[in-house]
Amino acid sequence: MTSPESPTASDAPGALPPRAFPMRRGCPFAAPAEYAALRTDEPVARVTLPTKREAWVVTRYDDVRELLSDPRASADIRRPGFPALGEGEQEAGARFRPFIRTDAPEHTRYRRMLLPAFTVRRVRAMRPAVQARVDEILDAMLDAGGPVDFVTAYANAVSTSVICELLGIPRHDLEFFRDVTRISGSRNSTAEQVSEALGGLFGLLAGLVAERREEPRDDLISKLVTDHLVPGNVTMDQLLSTLGITINAGRETTTSMIALSTLLLLDRPELPAQLREDPSLMPAAVDELLRVLSVADSIPLRVAAEDIELSGVTVPADDGVIALLAGANHDPEQFDEPERVDFHRTDNHHVAFGYGVHQCIGQHLARLELEVALETLVRRVPTLRLAGERDQVVVKHDSATFGLDELMVTW
Ligand code: HEM
Repeated sequence: MTSPESPTASDAPGALPPRAFPMRRGCPFAAPAEYAALRTDEPVARVTLPTKREAWVVTRYDDVRELLSDPRASADIRRPGFPALGEGEQEAGARFRPFIRTDAPEHTRYRRMLLPAFTVRRVRAMRPAVQARVDEILDAMLDAGGPVDFVTAYANAVSTSVICELLGIPRHDLEFFRDVTRISGSRNSTAEQVSEALGGLFGLLAGLVAERREEPRDDLISKLVTDHLVPGNVTMDQLLSTLGITINAGRETTTSMIALSTLLLLDRPELPAQLREDPSLMPAAVDELLRVLSVADSIPLRVAAEDIELSGVTVPADDGVIALLAGANHDPEQFDEPERVDFHRTDNHHVAFGYGVHQCIGQHLARLELEVALETLVRRVPTLRLAGERDQVVVKHDSATFGLDELMVTW
């Protein structure tokens, strides 16, 4: 393990660059195999990113929580050491400045603006609408007949429709939103590609903002326009960036969770059987799936604004550092037999939604969507099965959120 005083491996003349990050998952339902060794031998490890920059990764549960609650851990994407996993994300992020990649006091201002829409009470009131939308989407999938790509027909349709409904976006062009996130979240996209994709999204949102300014409705865009844009608390660009990150952050993660959870339930029929027998298990099951699958593993990217010590290792000021949520959520010091999927697990204080001031603002909505989407599927389509071979399932390795590109199913 690196001691606070020792030089990093890559400082030595002629030394090899540190190990490449991200590491790939062997099993889609577990963290990459390397995380277990890192947690024991090198819990704060130096890595080389796809951008060829170097950064640190943190894999222990306690260290991840400590880092994410440390005010010296900056989320400001404009800092040169920011460990973005793609050039496109780094450059476009610095230009559009989504509030997830800013620090207080700027971050606090935008977060406060959105918070009222995401309280437990507000989200609870959305349940009937979410259930109705999920039933409609499932009806359409069943009417079309199998085999069908479940990611497109169900997972993406549910997550996109719910976020569009919340914001008040009438045109549910599912493929358009999927493409925006696919391009802006891909490690292989250039800054121009990311800017173009986000530009298309901002164009659509700008039109809606103008309409709601004239004629407000009962939706989040109208509320933000009336309460914040009109009085001059935010500029048009800031409002568009805030709406854009809410759509992007909320869509891809939830799509991935619905698709991967379904694959896991298909692989392990005893799990949906438990849910059918006792539907009250659903909330605990959702949290267990969030922990096990940890789809937002490397979303929390930070820069040390000052030296930060974790597990006896100093991350020097200005270095990038990534809190690996799948590492934390599979830490055996925190979770008994972490690879076991246990819908009866108690004290499941996972960090699938992050931790600290940037902890997911949409987590109550995400839980609601997952509960309704999975419960409805398990109840209404007990004969759901894979269409094709298990190894034909297309896994998404190169995007900010781990997930599936395609999952062909029938029933
Ligand atoms: C299963 C689904 C989801 C997962 C796993 C997830 C995960 C996360 C994580 C890990 C963070 C923290 C990032 C960091 O620390 O840098 C985050 C932040 C965020 N999430 Fe989610 N998320 C999900 C669903 C949603 C939904 C449905 C929405 C909105 C509709 C949403 C909106 C946001 C926003 C706006 C932030 C930024 C918060 C801030 O910086 O203060 N997310 N999410």
